[in-house]
Amino acid sequence: MRHSPVLLQEVLDQLGLKSGAIVMDGTLGSGGHSQAMLAKIGPNGKLIGFDQDPEAIARCRELFQADTRVVLVHENFRNLKKVFPALGVAAFDVVLLDIGTSSEQLADGKRGFSFQAEGELDMRMNPEVGLKASELLAQMSEVELADLFYHYGEERHSRRFARVIVERRRQQPIRTIEDLNQTLELAVPPHLRFKKGNRPSWARRHPGTKVYQALRIGVNDELEALKEGMSGAFEHLSKGGRLGVISFHSIEDRIVKQQFRKWDDEEQGKLIFRKPMVAKREEILNNPRSRSAKLRVIEKIS
Ligand SMILES: C[S@@+](CC[C@H](N)C(=O)[O-])C[C@H]1O[C@@H](n2cnc3c(N)ncnc32)[C@H](O)[C@@H]1O
Repeated sequence: MRHSPVLLQEVLDQLGLKSGAIVMDGTLGSGGHSQAMLAKIGPNGKLIGFDQDPEAIARCRELFQADTRVVLVHENFRNLKKVFPALGVAAFDVVLLDIGTSSEQLADGKRGFSFQAEGELDMRMNPEVGLKASELLAQMSEVELADLFYHYGEERHSRRFARVIVERRRQQPIRTIEDLNQTLELAVPPHLRFKKGNRPSWARRHPGTKVYQALRIGVNDELEALKEGMSGAFEHLSKGGRLGVISFHSIEDRIVKQQFRKWDDEEQGKLIFRKPMVAKREEILNNPRSRSAKLRVIEKIS
């Protein structure tokens, strides 16, 4: 199923997209936001799209092959400052970062992102770089694992999960989603155990949800990438240009909120609205992924 872009109307309304604008989409995914933004910027606009996942770049190459306004870059947006000179533009009028995972990444078991899929525990958005989740699980100490689950997953039972992982890996390595799910269940009181085939409602999530989130953030160093990506994007925005970030959990949203407030306080930027925009009921019903999405937008004023 093709990834459906979240908060699409809000993005189109709030990013100040004008005819002829130069846009950077830092997170192409399946190109849904890009496609809609291209329709707004007209024949003289330009869109530079980044994604660190080669599969996303391949999908967008097919989607935009005939569109000469589009340049695709297989790169982590955290490296924007480094690669900017090669992009051949003076500045961006609009930058969008829609962080997190795409539906395609979650659905593909061999990528290892979802506890509901079956496959190897990889979780690298760029499979050419860094350690897999299974390698982190094998190498980190019990304390490091507990800290990872606590800080990146806000998991209350972080120490219990770390303990069962270390006990299990003494007997056999944790290589697959199934291995990890079985291991995590050992840390959960029986009445809370997740039963396969019994899809969790949103109110009662899989007990390992936060562990998966934490591992993914750790494997891809997502929080540092977000900070560096926002900094590079803001530096290369034109005066009056806008940066929009869509985040999917409170840890990311806090980082965005604090950075945007800082730019606003220093009068480098102006917040377009104070409270983040969230999905309306109808969007959540059509696309449950949107239920935790938050959009914040800042305009550069100096
Ligand atoms: C939520 S999806 C984006 C969906 C997209 N807006 C659409 O309409 O299809 C996130 C995408 O961003 C990519 N991504 C996440 N972090 C990234 C980073 N630091 N640099 C580049 N791409 C990143 C992921 O590989 C994924 O394809």
